[in-house]
Amino acid sequence: MAGRVTAAGPAPPVDPARFRGLMARWATGVSVVTAHQGPGDAGLTVNALLSVSLTPPSLLVSVSRDADTLAAITASGRFGVSFLAADQRPLSERFAAPVSAEEKFRGVAIHRAPGGSPLLDGSIGAVECRLAQQIPAFDHVLLIGEVLHAELGGDRPPLVFFRSSYATAEGADRLGLPPSRA
Ligand SMILES: Cc1cc2nc3c(=O)[nH]c(=O)nc-3n(C[C@H](O)[C@H](O)[C@H](O)COP(=O)(O)O)c2cc1C
Repeated sequence: MAGRVTAAGPAPPVDPARFRGLMARWATGVSVVTAHQGPGDAGLTVNALLSVSLTPPSLLVSVSRDADTLAAITASGRFGVSFLAADQRPLSERFAAPVSAEEKFRGVAIHRAPGGSPLLDGSIGAVECRLAQQIPAFDHVLLIGEVLHAELGGDRPPLVFFRSSYATAEGADRLGLPPSRA
């Protein structure tokens, strides 16, 4: 009866591997969250992202306590988010790799947001946020950012993450959505 509450009390908690498999069924986009701090840039691949409010525009990312980028974000008080296009899969892989921040950015084309956060060229959208709140959440920290700068990139398909694999959303136009305004 795993996962059910019985008269004898709560059943054992859900196995983390089972939960990971469950959440793998939740399709997401893929972003790279960045910060500029001191002499260098830092960044990591993030798919735990959601919009929070429109007034003010704000979003939330969930970052592991173990992520090296976390210290750079909290120290700078700002962070950038670049929404990856389907053809930017190599950047997702690079920013998820256990290598130094310097190595991650080597040869990567970036531009600077007004507050200095690096944004990845060629992304389908990008923002720079002021770090408004940090909420400890188990082994992660929820970072709520107020969006101070927003860029719409080209109308290209997004990179999608689903079932622990990369996918594309080439069929999105079949939904009949109007093209986004650039
Ligand atoms: C598709 C994908 C999504 C990821 N999403 C997250 C996430 O939402 N939060 C997080 O903390 N790590 C996430 N990761 C893992 C980090 O990108 C990875 O641990 C990275 O090496 C951390 O870099 P850092 O220690 O240099 O900051 C994700 C990895 C992949 C491949």
